[in-house]
Amino acid sequence: MKIVGGSIAALGMMTIADTMTAMAQNMSFGADNFYRSDNVTVQAITFQDQYRTTIAGNLFIRSNFNRSIDMPAIIVGHPMGAVKEQSANLYATKLAEHGFVTVSLDLPFWGASEGNPHNTVSPELYAEAYSAAVDYLGTQKIVDRERIGILGICGSGSFVISAAKVDSRLKAIATTSMYNHGILTRNGLRGSQSIEQRKELVAAASQQRWTEVDGGKALYTAGAPDEITAQSTSIDREFYDFYRTSRGEFTPKGWSPKLTTHPTLSSNTKFMNFYPFNDIETISPRPMLFISGDQAHSREFSEDAYAHAAEPKELFWVAGAGHVDLYDRMDLIPFEKLTQFFQTNLA
Ligand SMILES: *[C@@H]1O[C@H](CO)[C@@H](O)[C@H](O)[C@H]1NC(C)=O
Ligand SMILES: *[C@@H]1O[C@H](CO)[C@@H](O)[C@H](O)[C@H]1NC(C)=O
Ligand SMILES: *[C@@H]1O[C@H](CO)[C@@H](O)[C@H](O)[C@H]1NC(C)=O
Repeated sequence: MKIVGGSIAALGMMTIADTMTAMAQNMSFGADNFYRSDNVTVQAITFQDQYRTTIAGNLFIRSNFNRSIDMPAIIVGHPMGAVKEQSANLYATKLAEHGFVTVSLDLPFWGASEGNPHNTVSPELYAEAYSAAVDYLGTQKIVDRERIGILGICGSGSFVISAAKVDSRLKAIATTSMYNHGILTRNGLRGSQSIEQRKELVAAASQQRWTEVDGGKALYTAGAPDEITAQSTSIDREFYDFYRTSRGEFTPKGWSPKLTTHPTLSSNTKFMNFYPFNDIETISPRPMLFISGDQAHSREFSEDAYAHAAEPKELFWVAGAGHVDLYDRMDLIPFEKLTQFFQTNLA
């Protein structure tokens, strides 16, 4: 997900049906966001976080597991603005095939998790949801408490780092296509946003709080574009192809497809107070793995995290892959690398 530098994207007026016919989805490299495995059972779960917010998730377990042996577990976090049905379930399923108990979850304010208003930004509560998932897993009979790891995709890459800094029960930390929404919201991609533009965003969000407290409607910002035009950037097209076509589109029950992926404008500036890479070195000696496509528009964030993290750490480039490619393109996602990382570090 991204912020349009310095500007506030209003919701497009086209419907999803209109936009879907306007552009066919790109299913190359084995795109399979909704992959299901014959060998893995999925169960809907809920658990509470430390603020007594109910978090909705899925629990994935290999069908033929041995109940008398405690298993290692991995929590999987969805891209910012997405829900667990987008990318997270896929990774959780693939890791479960390799013998891990896995959990995907909807961040608070998103999907089927509690939190009002929907689409609120709260990096603090997002990180807490991952610690709550550790609570959940560690109280399951089949899980070994000492062998719990975590994987964050896109924005959740930085939320899981934020969680791991203050939760040493997370023993191994991996990220894919990581986005640091703190840096993004303050500075834009590759520093493309000036301090003046940042101040304009703060002013707009502040003004919007007056509107809301006076009874006015919420506004939404950022997220995947609702339509593609001749002016759309390659990044717009990349997100649109996943979020706005049958390749990855998912509208949670009771939501409008027009609201998916878009945070509320009055809360999005909370990301300006989010510094997930400060003190990242204190996660050491717990191992960290950062995976990014070498063509990803977000690669600066993995490079930055890697530079600041302490050993043991690894930065793994997927040749030819862009940011969104690693959400669902089975032939590009390095599942073997991930499996190996967790097998070694949750042994
Ligand atoms: C489809 O996506 C792949 C992977 O990102 C890319 O290499 C290819 O150029 C895309 N095809 C079209 C027609 O956009
Ligand atoms: C599913 O299980 C069968 C039988 O054990 C095995 O042959 C197959 O490789 C497994 N498939 C996956 C994707 O794990
Ligand atoms: C399950 O694990 C236990 C303990 O290691 C072992 O004794 C038993 O044979 C295993 N059962 C199966 C079906 O593999």
